[in-house]
Amino acid sequence: MKLLVCGGAGFIGSTFVRLALADGDEVVVLDKLTYAGRRENLTEVEADPRFRFVHGAIDDRTAVAQAIDGVEAVVNFAAETHVDRSIQEPDAFVHTHALGTYVLLEAARERGIRHLQVSTDEVYGSIAEGSFTEDSPLHPSSPYSATKAGADLLVGAYHETFAADVVICRGSNNYGPRQHPEKLIPLMVLNAIAGDPLPVYGDGLNVRNWLFVEDFAAAIGHVLRHGGAGETYNVGGPDECSNIEVVSAILRLCGRDESLIEYVSDRPGHDRRYSLGSEKVRALGWSARVRFAQGLERTVTWYRENAWWWEPIRSGAYREYYERQYGRRLGP
Ligand code: NAD
Ligand code: DAU
Repeated sequence: MKLLVCGGAGFIGSTFVRLALADGDEVVVLDKLTYAGRRENLTEVEADPRFRFVHGAIDDRTAVAQAIDGVEAVVNFAAETHVDRSIQEPDAFVHTHALGTYVLLEAARERGIRHLQVSTDEVYGSIAEGSFTEDSPLHPSSPYSATKAGADLLVGAYHETFAADVVICRGSNNYGPRQHPEKLIPLMVLNAIAGDPLPVYGDGLNVRNWLFVEDFAAAIGHVLRHGGAGETYNVGGPDECSNIEVVSAILRLCGRDESLIEYVSDRPGHDRRYSLGSEKVRALGWSARVRFAQGLERTVTWYRENAWWWEPIRSGAYREYYERQYGRRLGP
């Protein structure tokens, strides 16, 4: 297939692009290259004649028209993705998720092609026990998850109203190589390597359902090909873990002791636990391959061996973000 991959220079999008090319697809990436989007994530595929990069925003109709020409499906990863930033500055979240998704839906509808919306377990909110199914009500807590939920509702409405060929994939917490260090796992790995304190929000007992990024990318490819029009598929990871368990495991893998842990003020509206039931996508033929212990070890090794990738981030604008968010400077 020829695919338009929006947000393909980000963490999950670039993993998906590598997989799609390896599977024989042709790929056009449309990416605005925000602080989170990096051409470096696509270095391995830049020379492939089946790959093309368009620098532009999904909310820009002209850029979308330029990128979508001749494609057979749209996969939309493009988003603002950090909950803490959505609390500091919600503006871009509303703009990209609402307007950007609308522009893509219109472009796909005009051409009669499939639109796959990459979404998140956060649209369901927190669950104390058990797991969310695709029929659970949406109850988002942050400007990030509320705007992602809004985009999902618009995608669903395009199917109901216009019979547009749409499908939604809701993933749980991804981790793996090339994730921006603002997120829990890479933040803690890089702080542990540098000997900086590891800032744990609240009591550290919030639980996340961890999914290795290659497993999520494979699920998206599978749903794109086999998912039913108008359907939603939850894609949960195989393991749940509290934040403090994750941080302790990272410290062990980095050869550091727990004295680096620093409990800090909690995130406002912090969801306690996420958990997805993934029976529907498993019935379609996908299952997760990477257990958390193995994936975490691979991830820590990747960050240790690829300082070229994260050093420019950790020495740039991220330092100012970190100071604003945590009220302290990163070490040298
Ligand atoms: P990321 O922040 O690493 O990448 C986002 C990409 O989108 C970047 O390349 C950025 O430049 C691009 N982008 C942002 N605004 C854009 C715009 N207006 N136009 C074009 N490009 C734009 O994010 P990620 O972690 O790879 O997440 C990708 C998608 O998966 C998002 O939709 C996110 O909501 C969803 N998701 C993420 C996770 C997770 O744990 N990271 C879990 C489930 C779902
Ligand atoms: O669940 C899927 C979602 O996972 C995605 O939709 C989001 O794009 C992605 O950012 C992620 O959201 P979370 O808020 O769960 O991820 P984050 O890495 O920001 O935080 C994970 C947990 O770790 C959460 O309970 C907050 C906590 N945390 C996070 C940071 C950055 C800390 O304790 N300290 C920190 O410094």
